[in-house]
Amino acid sequence: MELLQELQIFAKEYDVPIVEEEVRDCLAMFLRIQQPKRLLELGTAIGYSAIFFATLLPEVEIITIERDDAMAFKAKENIKKAGLTERITLLHGDAKELLPTLDGFFDAIFMDAAKGQYNAFFTLLEPLWKPGGVLYADDVYFHGMLHDKEKYHKRKVTIVKRLRQYLQMIQETEGYESIVLPVGDGLAVTRKED
Ligand SMILES: C[S@@+](CC[C@H](N)C(=O)[O-])C[C@H]1O[C@@H](n2cnc3c(N)ncnc32)[C@H](O)[C@@H]1O
Repeated sequence: MELLQELQIFAKEYDVPIVEEEVRDCLAMFLRIQQPKRLLELGTAIGYSAIFFATLLPEVEIITIERDDAMAFKAKENIKKAGLTERITLLHGDAKELLPTLDGFFDAIFMDAAKGQYNAFFTLLEPLWKPGGVLYADDVYFHGMLHDKEKYHKRKVTIVKRLRQYLQMIQETEGYESIVLPVGDGLAVTRKED
């Protein structure tokens, strides 16, 4: 799709963080196998990944949440341009406030918002997460800081600590199974047991 290429160029030019190609392709593989009916995304940015998922899965309904005003405005424009307003609903606000207002179950969740909030998001996602459904959490190595001392910045200590807790929690929490894939900046894949 031409628009997706335009959005990649825009993201590069204006330094908007969008899903890395390697992660996008890995997600595409999982999602093609999974064939979710409802997908929830935390962190829309300019709408690149939401439009990508909707194009990949012609039947899927997507709810995507973005708190930044300028990003939400741009994403709305792009979703309209893609002709996907019927299948992608953009909710403008903080995911921590909006998640408790959502209804129904989602069988796929792409978590790509504030990395320091992943533990809090996980708790809020629990009631919305369909048994057998999968949560994909992006960038869990946080710019490589979780493993590479050279990349570690002292002022990011809290986020790094919280992501370590997140990775431990998804491995240890009963009722879930997880793998962490070394693609992009780390992709944690967690399945809720049926
Ligand atoms: C990595 S970008 C999302 C990229 C997008 N998923 C893509 O691949 O095209 C992360 C976005 O999450 C948003 N964000 C961060 N914390 C959030 C929160 N608590 N609620 C909603 N959006 C949030 C940021 O404003 C930013 O635009």
